[in-house]
Amino acid sequence: MNRALRKTVIAGNWKMNKTPSEAVELINAIKAELAGKKTDGCEIVACVPYVDLVPVIEAAKGSPIKVGAENVHFAASGAYTGEISAAMLCEIGTEYVIVGHSERRQYFGETDNTVSARLTAALAAGLKVILCVGETLEQRELGVTAETVSAQTKIALSGITAEQLKNVIIAYEPVWAIGTGKTATADQADEVCGIIRGVIASLYGESSADGITVQYGGSMNAKNAAELLGKPNVDGGLIGGASLKAPDFAAIIAAANA
Ligand code: PGA
Repeated sequence: MNRALRKTVIAGNWKMNKTPSEAVELINAIKAELAGKKTDGCEIVACVPYVDLVPVIEAAKGSPIKVGAENVHFAASGAYTGEISAAMLCEIGTEYVIVGHSERRQYFGETDNTVSARLTAALAAGLKVILCVGETLEQRELGVTAETVSAQTKIALSGITAEQLKNVIIAYEPVWAIGTGKTATADQADEVCGIIRGVIASLYGESSADGITVQYGGSMNAKNAAELLGKPNVDGGLIGGASLKAPDFAAIIAAANA
């Protein structure tokens, strides 16, 4: 395993928070926190609600912050009331998109197959994808964590080439740790991120496995980030709650740059 071959990515997932004006305020606050600090040790991404994308992309210009959406539809266009296509996201300058977040799986009927379709459409349009996988508490207690994240990863990536995989980040997010304040221990996070990397090795070979960024997500915060990011298989974080507070998000970025 060669960690030097992959980049650390610290991504915020704002979920359904911040109106456009509040979003610009938060980006400006993050920019102020980052001014004069070392940031080139990681990629910084803010994934924001659809209506915040245009103002946030504008506000983030000239800063190290890249901007992402939180979901994307799998069809190119058509009768899908309320949905947003990958081309729409690209045209306004969106660089990243989250696919398969557990809240979408839980509340909006997302399945491994629709996750795969969304990921395929996003990559085809030129977006970088943050693919979320993770087990529920019940699955962990039944001892099927490895099987669960392996199946989610394999199905999501079906039909994706090694070249396309270069635009995929995988976020390991145990469902029981999201928004609960219960973080996986650094060893638990490292173990499952390593299992996911092993799946990539089996599908695409060692060099793809060495190159792919595997993040941890689930109650990562300013206090626990350094320990989590210190683990060899944890290449960054997907951060919900703590990404909404500029000083906390900046502290996590600082931990990735230490
Ligand atoms: P959390 O959310 O950091 O608030 O637990 C993480 C996520 O859902 O991506």
